[in-house]
Amino acid sequence: MKLLEVKQVSKRFGGLTANQDVSFDVDKGTVVGLIGPNGAGKTTMFNCVAGYFAPTEGSILLGGRNIAGLPPEACARAGVARTFQVARSFTSMTACENVMTGAMLLQHNVAKARASALQWLAFVNLQRFADKPAGSMTISEQRRLAVARALAIEPQILLMDEVMAGLNPSEVREAVDVVLKIRERGIACLIVEHVLEGIMPIADKIVVLDRGVKIAEGTPQQVSSDPHVISAYLGDE
Ligand SMILES: Nc1ncnc2c1ncn2[C@@H]1O[C@H](COP(=O)(O)OP(=O)(O)O)[C@@H](O)[C@H]1O
Ligand SMILES: [Mg+2]
Repeated sequence: MKLLEVKQVSKRFGGLTANQDVSFDVDKGTVVGLIGPNGAGKTTMFNCVAGYFAPTEGSILLGGRNIAGLPPEACARAGVARTFQVARSFTSMTACENVMTGAMLLQHNVAKARASALQWLAFVNLQRFADKPAGSMTISEQRRLAVARALAIEPQILLMDEVMAGLNPSEVREAVDVVLKIRERGIACLIVEHVLEGIMPIADKIVVLDRGVKIAEGTPQQVSSDPHVISAYLGDE
């Protein structure tokens, strides 16, 4: 069943076309990887879906409702949660308080928000940091903290921007395990990722952008043997 439908989305910044006529779907409870070389337009697409940019053209449907152009908070309330490419935690606040900032979108009762935050911290395996300042956590742990904060808004889809960048292999495995647990919960994931070893084994579908245009879409096996994709990546290196 289709959850997110991106339909012919273009986004221009002045004369620069960051996304051109891009269409793809994300089915309920599936993991979709959005990949492509630097400057391909991945983060721009992500920001359009999350409400940080209004697309110049096209529509973005969530459960059949057009959310294109809605502000971030309205997208969040509609069911779209996100993490940022540069994990920004509130470093002097505890891990639990960081997640509560997400939970408070739905829940104004502090005790209930705290209970929900603790549950999501446990979900990403960070319960031991509940009362420790976020600034004391490693980058890998702070990325998972950002995931917990995003999940605390109880989204239908979670957008993750390069959550695996710069992680060591065991940290990548931890991040992958969290994505698989999110999918088990029936929450869809749209993952922008440069670390192909992380995303290829777990994605139900891969969408490839290059210079703003969708150049391929299919299973990880299909796209990794696609000559257009290979030349886009080789051209980048
Ligand atoms: N806010 C912005 N203003 C102007 N140009 C932008 C902005 N954001 C992105 N771009 C440009 O859009 C293109 C795509 O960028 P981006 O979406 O960040 O690519 P990716 O995430 O795939 O590396 C780049 O040429 C980038 O410089
Ligand atoms: Mg980017």
